Amino acid sequence: MCGISAYIGKKDAAGVVLECLKKLEYRGYDSWGIVALRGSTGSSPGSSFSVIKRIGKIGGVNSSYLKEAIGEDSRIAIGHTRWATHGGVTEQNAHPHFDCKKQFAVAHNGIIENYQELKEGLLAKGHIFSSQTDTEIIPHLIEEAATTAKDFPEAVREASKLLKGKSAFVAVSASLSQIAVVRKGSPLIIGVNEGDNSEFYVASDINAFLEYTNKVMYLDDNELAVIDGGVKFFSISTGNEVAKRVVQIDWHPGTAHKGSYNHFLIKEIMEQKDTLAKAINQDDVKILTVAELIKSAFGTFFVGCGTAGKVCMAGEYLFSKIARKHVNSVVASEFSNYQHYLTNKTLMVAISQSGETADVLEAIDTAKSKGVKVISLLNVFGSTMMRVSDDFFMVNAGAERAVVSTKATTAQLAVLTLLAYATAGKLQEGKLLLINASAAVNDMLNPRYDEHIRKLAGLLAVRKETFIIGRGLNYPIALEAAIKLQETCYMHAQGFAGGELKHGPLALIEEGTPCIAIVANDETKSDIISNAMEVKSRGGFIIGISPQNNEVFDYWLRVPDAGNASPIVNIIPVQILAYHLAVLKGCDPDYPRNLAKSVTVK
Ligand code: AGP
Ligand code: GLU
Repeated sequence: MCGISAYIGKKDAAGVVLECLKKLEYRGYDSWGIVALRGSTGSSPGSSFSVIKRIGKIGGVNSSYLKEAIGEDSRIAIGHTRWATHGGVTEQNAHPHFDCKKQFAVAHNGIIENYQELKEGLLAKGHIFSSQTDTEIIPHLIEEAATTAKDFPEAVREASKLLKGKSAFVAVSASLSQIAVVRKGSPLIIGVNEGDNSEFYVASDINAFLEYTNKVMYLDDNELAVIDGGVKFFSISTGNEVAKRVVQIDWHPGTAHKGSYNHFLIKEIMEQKDTLAKAINQDDVKILTVAELIKSAFGTFFVGCGTAGKVCMAGEYLFSKIARKHVNSVVASEFSNYQHYLTNKTLMVAISQSGETADVLEAIDTAKSKGVKVISLLNVFGSTMMRVSDDFFMVNAGAERAVVSTKATTAQLAVLTLLAYATAGKLQEGKLLLINASAAVNDMLNPRYDEHIRKLAGLLAVRKETFIIGRGLNYPIALEAAIKLQETCYMHAQGFAGGELKHGPLALIEEGTPCIAIVANDETKSDIISNAMEVKSRGGFIIGISPQNNEVFDYWLRVPDAGNASPIVNIIPVQILAYHLAVLKGCDPDYPRNLAKSVTVK
């Protein structure tokens, strides 16, 4: 679940790879490394690798630092930002990795499930390993295959055939001006600038190189691409060449700079002033077509992970309340356990900001194997999910860089709300509701509001735990609120359905225990107020998120009365609270420990 980048062309390759990796840092940020081919101005036997590997983030690294470490300009380079799965976070374990003689360098994303078995075989043949990673077996396997293979690409293909599990990697040979790119379940995309100054980019996602080229060639699973003066694609299993075309991407994720903000997280929270309006700017015909599909499907499953999983759950409530239609929300990693119910009349709506989450992709595979139709709700154009789905909606939130999802979440909620209204035959009513919610969010996100929440963060920063309760549409929002607090400030936060507390968790409440009560102005209001009372009676400190104040609240976070759009407006104060808690507690709001934005491993 790392970022991979590679470049071959006339520019300073290591410098280009550095810039591309900075854009991929959200995928993994425990360590990074770049390998450039010294003397790689053409095919130059005898050239060798220059290497830099460091622990920590790549974001602050400048090109002069890189040049000092890596030396003269190069024309070929590969690089990696790591999210460790096998082996600790050390420079030794940072990618790229090499074979015994340093003839081949490899940057890899994913997990090699049979690496222990492969490693034993390689050790028996005398290979010497210098890291604890699973990745390092790849260059050694290439080294082994190269003794008999007719050329470098063939050696890479032979090595790739042995790998089990989902992964992708780039490999470069020290003696050839050639990069091999392998995709086996994890994403890798090739950017091209052909012509006199032909150059090629490889990256885990399009954003990495979009500022250099918008022409891409997609590698499919179990394919190998070989890049030198041109690019050729081959099937890994047969070795046969595969025809590909260049696709022009006329999409831009929008600005991905912090601007005047200190962190991406607060910038992206504030961008919700206008992302909701962009989210509902959908093609009516498409919305109505998908609404018809939902109506006629024999079972609809909303599937996602983490925050997107909570959005799926909110969708289940929204469809029940607005469209009187039952849909199932399932956490993607559990979806295969529902496969017994799937038929070719089932519909899956996959929800994912990145479009690259491995668990969701696997759920899509399961669905497709049963003939299920798949529609995705995505924020990243050109992502794998976009390509494997039958159709997709873009939620139009623009580049979301903070690992902690905010504006993509509310945009997903807005599109699902719209779909629920369309399914009820009330598309225009839904649009109006969301336009009003968007205007209300715009008013709400002002400096006074931010300051009021910052003060609350000051009170909560000393606490080790927080509970969040909600009912109905806002029960999934209580769960999502807990994720926000966990990610940003490492607080033990837990969301509950308001009615569930008395069945156990109430025993955890002590004098001063913070409890956020999400109180929508709907049919759940009196019950959730009673639940807040039950907590307060046992010493709890009640933070109310609600359009109206109430005597049970010790601290009131006012939100607009947004009707069925309440999940959208109610999560926003918690996002702001989570941000301020991170800052107050000295945590990095954009890059929480142990996490990565795009989780491309199972
Ligand atoms: C959100 O704040 C989290 N970082 C995480 O739960 C995320 O929503 C999840 O990994 C799913 O990502 P996706 O939307 O890109 O599929
Ligand atoms: N499994 C490899 C490692 O731990 C790659 C992890 C990644 O995708 O960043 O180094």
